[in-house]
Amino acid sequence: MAEPLRIALAGLGTVGAGVIRLVEANAALIARRAGRPLEIVVVSARDRNKERGVDLSPYAWEDDMTAIAARDDVDVIVEMVGGADGPALTLARNAFAHGKGLVTANKAMIAHHGVALAAAAEQARVPLKFEAAVAGGIPVIKGLREGAAANAIERVYGILNGTCNFILSTMEESGRDFADVLAEAQRRGFAEADPSFDIEGTDAAHKLAILAAIAFGAEVDFAAVETAGITRILAADIFEAAALGYVIRLIGIAEPDASDGDGATRLFQRVQPHLVPVDHPLAHVVGATNAVVAEGNFSGRLLFQGAGAGDGPTASAVVADLIDIARGEVGCPFSVPVAELEALPPADSGHRMGRAYLRFLVADRPGVLAEITAAMRDAGVSIESLIQKGRPDGDSTVLVALVTHEGPEASVTEALRLLEGSPSFAAPPLVMHLLGH
Ligand code: HSE
Repeated sequence: MAEPLRIALAGLGTVGAGVIRLVEANAALIARRAGRPLEIVVVSARDRNKERGVDLSPYAWEDDMTAIAARDDVDVIVEMVGGADGPALTLARNAFAHGKGLVTANKAMIAHHGVALAAAAEQARVPLKFEAAVAGGIPVIKGLREGAAANAIERVYGILNGTCNFILSTMEESGRDFADVLAEAQRRGFAEADPSFDIEGTDAAHKLAILAAIAFGAEVDFAAVETAGITRILAADIFEAAALGYVIRLIGIAEPDASDGDGATRLFQRVQPHLVPVDHPLAHVVGATNAVVAEGNFSGRLLFQGAGAGDGPTASAVVADLIDIARGEVGCPFSVPVAELEALPPADSGHRMGRAYLRFLVADRPGVLAEITAAMRDAGVSIESLIQKGRPDGDSTVLVALVTHEGPEASVTEALRLLEGSPSFAAPPLVMHLLGH
């Protein structure tokens, strides 16, 4: 059999340890498929003595993880350290400077520095692969870059954060509170070290920006993703959505937008909780599962679904990248050479047509409903349904939820502007868009 692909592995957290377990457990099968063995030569992490459930004695150890790229006895670096900058970024740059390929699960680093790193990899003629950075074990990057390569992708959207999906679907099924379910997600190990990245939508936005770049041949533009998380969703929102025939899911959507009328194509990217019709495939995605829909102009709708986090699924994606490299596949990280990536300006979401759910917590006194409906009228928003829930216990704050007819998003924004600062509101209004079929 041919010479092994020699690997340096930096970062021995859940996923790094999972990579060791997978490479060891499936060694023979992987060698047959790759045409040569994968050999982990050296590992590095912050703490050598931490218990990880894997035996590190077969591997050399480096204290300085950023130095492993300089070793002559490795061909490729696997970066499982995390963080957009710091040691992970230094290691990635060092890898290319030393002519070595890089496999990473680091969505933050790719979302912030992906184009510059792809340029460095291209210049060094080495691979940069990050299947594990988006949707864990789901081969969605491969699906877009290879399986759907013949298509113009018209839209890509989906459930990109397992923690949020676990929280929302568990709240829906159990009626439990947000904080209680978040604590369970953290115990189960799929929340990020800083859970605000999950629940504020940042993690999903990192992944969406990467997917959009691949799907549309555009430069990664994480800063342009309109991002809102799930922290303000109440059990009552889930209840009202269900009564209307919807579930609530954190959805990332990206699509090219040429609606400005100036002939230019812009890029729309948004991560926000949405009302999803109960008969939509994404409504059935529960727990920490991820699902991505890509609409190709010839393939039609493609649905990729599976575990979006966890050591096994994420290691599966990392090792798939290593197998590609062992086979000699370099490829363009974002499907096309860096010089051909388009710098698409962000789309103005005000042009978008759609329906929205608006929820208000208001003082229960005469005129408040009239104030809300007057703002809708003045902004040209047509209301399709409206619910006000009285409080039998005499609490003076009540919930008003309404769903609009289809119309421009700018009109909803204008209605909310008209209501801004009103003393009738106990909390800022919550807006969620409705996902079409
Ligand atoms: N914290 C992420 C999630 C896992 O919950 O989906 C890996 O991106």
